[in-house]
Amino acid sequence: MTTAIVGVGNIGGALARHLVAGSESVVLAAKDQSRAQALADELGPLARAASVEDAIAGADVVVFAVWLDTIKELIAKDARLLENKVVVDPSNPLGFDESGQMIRTLPEGQSAGSVVAALLPASAQYVKAFGTLGADALASGANREPRRAVLFYATDDDAAATAIERLIRAAGFEPVRAGGIADAGRLEVPGGDLHQGGLNGELVDLDQARAAVAAELPG
Ligand SMILES: NC(=O)c1ccc[n+]([C@@H]2O[C@H](COP(=O)([O-])OP(=O)(O)OC[C@H]3O[C@@H](n4cnc5c(N)ncnc54)[C@H](OP(=O)(O)O)[C@@H]3O)[C@@H](O)[C@H]2O)c1
Repeated sequence: MTTAIVGVGNIGGALARHLVAGSESVVLAAKDQSRAQALADELGPLARAASVEDAIAGADVVVFAVWLDTIKELIAKDARLLENKVVVDPSNPLGFDESGQMIRTLPEGQSAGSVVAALLPASAQYVKAFGTLGADALASGANREPRRAVLFYATDDDAAATAIERLIRAAGFEPVRAGGIADAGRLEVPGGDLHQGGLNGELVDLDQARAAVAAELPG
């Protein structure tokens, strides 16, 4: 299995390092291809750099580790290449206003996940994942002992669930499914109860994660 990571910033860079440490093959792309190349060179034979289009075309799983507006642009441009791929979305509905303040970019109640999933070709398999921790916690939280930290994910698709569970484990975390696309907002900030920000900044273990998922279920 090959995983394309589009964006090698805070999230994409940490994820690339973890996946290669977990023996996964990655192909890295960025706006400035020299950044993707530099990281691929650092990570060795399991990593290579490519253009966004070539990275997507050659991968089974595509992680869009870029801002939500960029995800929308890239899907519009490369929709055909995403057919039959597992598409992983770590994005939050966040942006900056003119004064540099961080703001919510979508109406209350609308998740970034629902927006991204709706833009994909019907044969693509959407997963919300890899955005539930702040970038520093993602970078430092892998392979925690004695109990691994959990990364939540949400998808409607069982094949996508299998792929993301493999990647979360390879990255050094424990996967927990939080539901389907309709639940993606629980994994996002602002407001998501299963995001690190909604868990008092904590990294939770499997038992804590299962309890947190169940706590918000209706009934
Ligand atoms: N940072 C966090 O703590 C955090 C936590 C949870 C979720 N997230 C989410 O994760 C996503 C990435 O956040 P981040 O903090 O990692 O962002 P970041 O550090 O700003 O990195 C963004 C990456 O996107 C690349 N990029 C921008 N435009 C592109 C394009 N047109 N084509 C290909 N690549 C492009 C940039 O390439 P260059 O390097 O060439 O500029 C850069 O590598 C966002 O959706 C964010 O909401 C972030």
